[in-house]
Amino acid sequence: MIKVNEDYLKLPGSYLFSTIAKKVAAFSEANPDKKIIRLGIGDVTQPLCPAVIKALHSAVDEMAAAETFKGYAPDLGYAFLRDTIAEKVYKPLGADVAADEIFISDGAKSDSGNIQEIFAKDVKIAVCDPVYPVYVDTNVMAGRTGTYDESTGLWSNVIYMPCTADNGFAPEFPETVPDVIYLCFPNNPTGATITKDQLQGWVDYAVKNKAVIIYDAAYEAYISEDGVPHSIFECEGARDCAIEIRSFSKNAGFTGLRLGYTVIPKNLKNEEGASLHALWARRHGTKFNGAPYIVQKAGEAVYSEEGQKETREQIAYYMNNAKVIYEGLKNAGYSVSGGVNAPYIWLKTPDNMTSWEFFDHLLETANVVGTPGSGFGPSGEGYFRLTAFGSYENTVEAIKRIAEI
Ligand code: MLT
Repeated sequence: MIKVNEDYLKLPGSYLFSTIAKKVAAFSEANPDKKIIRLGIGDVTQPLCPAVIKALHSAVDEMAAAETFKGYAPDLGYAFLRDTIAEKVYKPLGADVAADEIFISDGAKSDSGNIQEIFAKDVKIAVCDPVYPVYVDTNVMAGRTGTYDESTGLWSNVIYMPCTADNGFAPEFPETVPDVIYLCFPNNPTGATITKDQLQGWVDYAVKNKAVIIYDAAYEAYISEDGVPHSIFECEGARDCAIEIRSFSKNAGFTGLRLGYTVIPKNLKNEEGASLHALWARRHGTKFNGAPYIVQKAGEAVYSEEGQKETREQIAYYMNNAKVIYEGLKNAGYSVSGGVNAPYIWLKTPDNMTSWEFFDHLLETANVVGTPGSGFGPSGEGYFRLTAFGSYENTVEAIKRIAEI
């Protein structure tokens, strides 16, 4: 009999959003007449902006002529895109990031799942609780997380940093010092942010403890308030301790196109001098043949003048939905947070329902799909996440239905 990777067998159930999709498909099949509104997975609904479509068309045409045809992309990304990101994303923030420290990929989900490969099997990871499930699940797959306690929902080797209403959904320094710290701000799922001073505190903590921060900034385009950092590289010392992951899915609607990037400073090394930048480059070269040329050209177009204007309009559209959800639920008596610097609204379930009980209740009575907070970790129990990525009409209708139940 073939032996399988036993670490995979330790994963309880299916991936959160696959479980939800299965439940919704079953409900839909049993109730074909119901109009279900999906505010669960954070998938965009607005079409790609004209600047991106134009770039895609023109890149496809290049593929049709022998002189301009492109085969394999450079595994670390085309210089035109890496240069553009360094210039248009990091320079205006005053962040010291060079083009060749930017690794282009097929998305932030892959990068946030794969990055753990460059660390030893026995490193201690710390995660916020609740948290984007990819961080923990991929560390389970790597055999790093110890045993799972079904009664608590905790892995024995993972350091959990509870983010609750009591601490404003911001993690506190853990008692046990971790080797790798996952931070995501604006946060998925709570929609919370931390200030630049708070992030600087984490950078100082990591430098002092020789830890590495994996900073997931996928939602930075949704920041509307001053004093909220867009990149960890705005902080002093971050080049010595941080890796940053970015996405084109949320800022430009590339969920179906697939494009993201990871920044690893060249000076990020362990005490023996091993360069994390070099390890990630080696990994890319070995396991990845580069994001498609046409998609990287589309990514470049996001930073053109029209691309910036058009994607900002899309973000404003989704943030208007966030306001509709936030205010509608608040007026209906729900306790809500998030939704100001992030496209996620985090609400307390009513009547002490568990997260999954509320999921079923909402699906059955309002025919609205959201995401149970407990799916993101034990501290998410009793909470629920709604996304602002739906259409305006569906968002208004969903909130009306929820307010009526
Ligand atoms: C979410 O709903 O949490 C996100 O869409 C998942 C992702 O970006 O992979």
